[in-house]
Amino acid sequence: MKARFDGIRRSEAKGTRQMRILGLVILVLLIVLGVCGWVFAHTWSIGANNSPGAIERMVASHTKSFFVKRAASAGLPQESASSPDSISNGHTIYGGSCAGCHGYDGRTPTTLGRSMSPRAPSLAGEGAQSWSDGELFVIVRDGLRMTGMPAFGSVHQSDEIWDVVHYVRSIPNSAPRH
Ligand code: HEC
Repeated sequence: MKARFDGIRRSEAKGTRQMRILGLVILVLLIVLGVCGWVFAHTWSIGANNSPGAIERMVASHTKSFFVKRAASAGLPQESASSPDSISNGHTIYGGSCAGCHGYDGRTPTTLGRSMSPRAPSLAGEGAQSWSDGELFVIVRDGLRMTGMPAFGSVHQSDEIWDVVHYVRSIPNSAPRH
């Protein structure tokens, strides 16, 4: 009988010790979180003159890629064929709708574009050119939330957006112009 009570007492004591250790671990975690929160609140800035840090860039880039690819695979209006006429029409639309940020030649972002965070990029670069035509269509039609990239779906018809996509594709082969 006594041995059984001793056994119960021992397991109760063990349970209490485990609870104390768990409490201590939670307390330490809360202190670490609190310190991180304090440092973040006192060093991070909402201003657009700061470029996003490496972690923010990585998270944003993966998120952007996931949602753009998902939207592009959901079925898009039939792509028109690329032709000199389509590229030329795309260039005209580009001049009115895009050049203000990405630069007249598509590869020299303007001061306004470079003052955004994230910065408006050159469209001749690997970043822009690695998207498929459909993904470029989605970016132009729907824009990129929480960046300066507007949605043009209510400004331009689908075939005009395809023309802009064809123009964007032609930028790396065109001569720089300002
Ligand atoms: C008001 C400024 C602004 C205008 C106007 C604008 N963009 Fe953008 N665009 C941006 C910014 C800022 C980004 C960067 C977004 C990011 O990093 O996620 C961007 C990103 C893009 C990207 C993705 C580039 C990449 O490297 O992944 C493409 C493609 C693009 N824009 C095309 C266009 C086209 C085509 C137009 C016109 C129809 C246009 N943009 C008009 C600001 C603008």
